[in-house]
Amino acid sequence: MRDIDIFRELQSEATDWRRYLHENPELDFQEYNTARFVAEKLASFGINHIETGIAGTGVVALIQGVGGDGPTIGLRADMDALPIVETSNKPWASKTSGIMHACGHDGHTAMLLGAAKHLASSRNFKGSVALIFQPAEEPAFPTGAFKMVQEGIMERFGISRVFGMHIAPGIEVGKFGIRHGSIMGSQDDFDIIVKGRGGHAAVPSHTIDPVVIAAQIIMGLQTLVSRKTDPLESLVISVTKLNAAQAYNVIPDQVEIGGTVRTSASSLRDFAEKEIAAAAQGIARGFGAEIEFKYLRSVPATFNSTEETNLAIEAARNLVGTASVDGNVGFDMGAEDFAYMLEARPGAYIYLGNGPTPACHNPAFDFDDEALPYGIGYWVKLVETVLGSERTGESG
Ligand code: NI
Repeated sequence: MRDIDIFRELQSEATDWRRYLHENPELDFQEYNTARFVAEKLASFGINHIETGIAGTGVVALIQGVGGDGPTIGLRADMDALPIVETSNKPWASKTSGIMHACGHDGHTAMLLGAAKHLASSRNFKGSVALIFQPAEEPAFPTGAFKMVQEGIMERFGISRVFGMHIAPGIEVGKFGIRHGSIMGSQDDFDIIVKGRGGHAAVPSHTIDPVVIAAQIIMGLQTLVSRKTDPLESLVISVTKLNAAQAYNVIPDQVEIGGTVRTSASSLRDFAEKEIAAAAQGIARGFGAEIEFKYLRSVPATFNSTEETNLAIEAARNLVGTASVDGNVGFDMGAEDFAYMLEARPGAYIYLGNGPTPACHNPAFDFDDEALPYGIGYWVKLVETVLGSERTGESG
């Protein structure tokens, strides 16, 4: 029997779970029904160490191997849906208008449940596996992963390494993609308030016009990336918000600028914070205006550590063969809150192909259930690879 066929035996059951979750999506930190569903399934697999209510709606379960003492590794799935009106027209489309699983977290949850069922019956490893079902991957700070780390799950469950997986439209089903180092970007936001002196728009000489100053600041920020950072490093600064007066004939007292900063490394976050403030302040002072500046740190870059990335590649290759694992997939500037777990412990985050579907967060997105056995198989292979079981059976 080929290895993947072992996991295909779980596909129809996992498909039922996945579609049930898809039909019943819940937003961040409100995954009450999802968490109950997860905990009930885990108990039905004979797992007796299950903790609920972590970071609100998070669930962590521990499965001990029969191979003796060893470390504990964490496997993480996220559970939350998005505030999007679904247009997939699938029979299992969301039954809650305005909320849908548009990022595949229904599939992530079903795959980790499938792995839990397999691992709870085989227990073919040393040490323990902590199954981390995380709430609230999607929202702004503080996210579910941040809160779970803050509530001490790494220490409490003795987790020494953590692994994450995300479905990836555009990669073929049955294939994996991963890279060493940063695989996804950090996300910070900033606010600049330009404080001038308002007045009548017909008499600008009596004002310190914050609209013109704001325009200069926005243009000035464009050169931070092009003129002040190494072209081989990844930094994006985008201004996305601009609030001035609400009338044609008024020069306002102040203008509010807001934007986002994405980077591949934490040193670039420090750079962006310092340089945005300095550029805005320098420009404003040149016009006799002042600024107020706030830099809001959110998700760090998702950083894959060397040894754990090698283990993840090895596990995926054991499942699908070398040709189906891309070990140098492109860096993505999007942010992923699993980064907080990777800040707390070494680990690796891998993509699993979802085929040529609409992109994540698109209202027509749907998880491809053909990917389920690959995700389940990856988790099991990873546990066997990291926790050093001796595989028996006739595969080869
Ligand atoms: Ni996602």
